[in-house]
Amino acid sequence: MRHTVLISDKFDKEGVERLKSSGKFEVVYKEGHTREELLSVIDQAEALIIRSATKADKEVIEKASNLKLIVRAGVGVDNIDIPEASRRGIIVMNAPGGNSVSTAEQAISLLTSMARNIPQANQTMHEGKWEKKKFKGTELTGKTLGVVGLGRIGKEVVKRAKGLRMNVLGFDPYIPAESLSHLEIDIVSKEEIIKQSDFITVHTPLTDTTRDLVNKENLKDLKKGVRLINCARGGIYNEEALAEGLESGQIAGVALDVFTQEPIPADFPLIGKENVILTPHLGASTGEAEFAVAMETIDELIEFFDTGVARNALNFPSIDPDSLDYLKPYFLGGEKAGKLLAHFVGGDVKTVDLNYKGSIAEYKIDPVTTAILKGVLSVALGDDQLNYVNAPVFAKERGIRVHENKTENPDTYKSSVDIKLEATSGKSATLKFTAINSDPLVVSMNELPIEFKPEGILILCENNDVPGVVGAIGSFLGQENVNIASIELARPKEGGTARSVLVVDDLLTADQLKKMNDLGHIVSAIQVDLRESK
Ligand code: NAD
Ligand code: MLT
Repeated sequence: MRHTVLISDKFDKEGVERLKSSGKFEVVYKEGHTREELLSVIDQAEALIIRSATKADKEVIEKASNLKLIVRAGVGVDNIDIPEASRRGIIVMNAPGGNSVSTAEQAISLLTSMARNIPQANQTMHEGKWEKKKFKGTELTGKTLGVVGLGRIGKEVVKRAKGLRMNVLGFDPYIPAESLSHLEIDIVSKEEIIKQSDFITVHTPLTDTTRDLVNKENLKDLKKGVRLINCARGGIYNEEALAEGLESGQIAGVALDVFTQEPIPADFPLIGKENVILTPHLGASTGEAEFAVAMETIDELIEFFDTGVARNALNFPSIDPDSLDYLKPYFLGGEKAGKLLAHFVGGDVKTVDLNYKGSIAEYKIDPVTTAILKGVLSVALGDDQLNYVNAPVFAKERGIRVHENKTENPDTYKSSVDIKLEATSGKSATLKFTAINSDPLVVSMNELPIEFKPEGILILCENNDVPGVVGAIGSFLGQENVNIASIELARPKEGGTARSVLVVDDLLTADQLKKMNDLGHIVSAIQVDLRESK
């Protein structure tokens, strides 16, 4: 079956051809779909590839009834309603690596152009003027450049600015200073950047912590004559404040590649101002970056449809292929175990306690936790609407408290996962599972050692530990023409309540299950269907 991929923004031609020639995809590509066109075709798409022009907002996502995946060919995902995509189980990925160098080079180009008034001088030459005196510039050597955001692009900018012999200061509160020591720059506070820099360049996403980094209130704190560059996202510098700062002379120059509204409106406050350079979001617009981003996007898309691995996913814990090999049985077993235990406590779960022990604790275990939550929720919500993206969202919405604990000390097994569920009724249950030969295996339930594979149709039975009960269960199921594939027994002590787990070949009807519960000495018998497809 071919998957339909809709590409609604400008995309590298070789990339489009590669997707088509793989034979796996029906590709619908038009450079720049209008909003109406997008809304009319989005319901066909299983995957949507966009750049910054397409707005994958609530309305688009609601209409996208077959969509599994949105891939942003680039970094910024502020044009995607990720919470809505998560609610609908749509994975959102970006392809962040390919355009870092081009964008860093754009920032440096704006910096050097601004220092020497190149665009303005060029403009006057084309107008037949010779204004040598007007365009006196400033040298970069020895000047201080403040770099805000030291991720992929910020780091590339730092390397280039050092090559220009600038004194570079950096600020990024989310990266430990020791991880930035190789950059050999001074890591300082935001206030120091504002106070000391002759030039400031920003390379962060637009968030509540980065919006209005330069604003009307802190204009006076900027070094007089500062020059500001933004190739990240519009709004990191307040655009009205920039106009005011240029007017007063506090700011000597501004170079922007990105804007709060794109394309910019006719009344954009910096249009026509001297000492302002504006480019139409060109950071990633080089042949090299477009090609690299397209290839990264396609690699991710093909890998997702081939293997289910969601690389660079933003709303789903992505697993690298090596970890996937190790975690797979825990991922698969966790979902089944979660479902089994949630059935046992009656579905309405209020807390989930997870204890990862041994080697598994060395891994990023979020995918396993997500799989367990999906299994737990499936009892109350059914399997149809749930997936690995929306399970954590639904768990949060239902007020389910999830506690994870990791300890690298193993108990009996090299790796194991303990699950404890508590329902609103007060009923609780525990289960431990491990992986043997890459297959999940439950090794205890409700603190009682009992081994079974979490798969197929299971009947969990509690009965008085008296002679003849197992025989009675066997005869009853025989009479009902239900074949027992295996049976596991456990008891805490002789004469107490014994437990058994039966694997049967056919689902019992509600009536058969009731009759089984009515057999002598049966305390309870519940049936859980852990088959893959029903
Ligand atoms: P990245 O995720 O690698 O780096 C962003 C960095 O910002 C991170 O290290 C993060 O810790 C830091 N950060 C977050 N909040 C911060 C704060 N309050 N103060 C200081 N630092 C903070 O991203 P990247 O690939 O380097 O991209 C940076 C920005 O550039 C993004 O907004 C992206 O959308 C934009 N971008 C623009 C273009 C363009 O065409 N102009 C091209 C590519 C990327
Ligand atoms: C990005 O965030 O990657 C940029 O905005 C580049 C783009 O897609 O034009």
